[in-house]
Amino acid sequence: MNYRHRFHAGNFADVLKHAVLLRLLSGLQAKEKGILYLDTHAGRGGYDLAASAEGSSRPRAPEWPAGIGRLWGRTDLPPELADYVEAVRAFDADARARAGAAGGESAEGPRFYPGSPRLAAARLRAQDRALCCEAQPEESAALADELGRARRVSVQTMDGYTALRAMLPPPERRALVLIDPPFEAQDEWSRIVEGLAEGLRRLPGGTFAVWYPLTARARVDAFYRELLAIKQLPPCFTVELLIGGEAAGLRLWGCGLLVINPPWGSAAPLDALARWLAPVLAQAPGAAGGVHWLVQDK
Ligand SMILES: C[S@@+](CC[C@H](N)C(=O)[O-])C[C@H]1O[C@@H](n2cnc3c(N)ncnc32)[C@H](O)[C@@H]1O
Repeated sequence: MNYRHRFHAGNFADVLKHAVLLRLLSGLQAKEKGILYLDTHAGRGGYDLAASAEGSSRPRAPEWPAGIGRLWGRTDLPPELADYVEAVRAFDADARARAGAAGGESAEGPRFYPGSPRLAAARLRAQDRALCCEAQPEESAALADELGRARRVSVQTMDGYTALRAMLPPPERRALVLIDPPFEAQDEWSRIVEGLAEGLRRLPGGTFAVWYPLTARARVDAFYRELLAIKQLPPCFTVELLIGGEAAGLRLWGCGLLVINPPWGSAAPLDALARWLAPVLAQAPGAAGGVHWLVQDK
């Protein structure tokens, strides 16, 4: 396992994933009853964007300027994106203060960018809790440090797919599960489908969100077919963002989130969010965004 999320932190894929995550969380929190937030592939929780450009052995172009960087100075953000950018600003300010980083807020973009566990932890209510799993010990230790002061949050150094078996169903009987793997392993897509089938057996009403890359449409179509073979697959949609068409020559030309058991009323705002982002985050002709139901809500 070589994947290091720090090189990608704040890129267009993080923008979509994290804005959708916050919207799903607020949708579930419309009900008073507590939820478990389970992050199966949690990462280190926070990223220093200045260090992310250094690379492992030689400098590399940072990805965040074409992601969060394009939203940073805008004053016309739709509500869901304004909420997300506000969450990033709050994390950046806090992390700067902790690091004793010189200078105040920058006009170009954040210096520090939050990972999914940090964004979710900041939104937990007294009745909610979070469980964050990370397989790489070094990343997991950094995550434990990052979340050290957060209440109702625990970090486990473990395989995220095992967590779907071990941690579900939770006593709360309500959960938002984020599955955000690195897609380095050949069998990642099939492990996701198996994990979802198991998770849904254990918690049929749970909300599951899976991030996936768009590098080949045929692979994603096969993923949809494998999902539809899950017995009694609950209502689910995908929210996708293409920063260019498949033929545009980009390696990663888009990404999506599959959302199973979406909170009531979340499809329309997420559709609007992805449509708004497409021209703003476009890197080539053919950019597009939107929600597509795989199993329509009745
Ligand atoms: C895309 S990153 C996660 C980013 C994070 N969810 C966020 O949005 O900030 C994927 C993470 O999964 C970790 N990982 C890889 N295989 C794993 C597994 N089987 N179980 C849990 N974590 C794993 C990697 O070390 C990496 O930190």
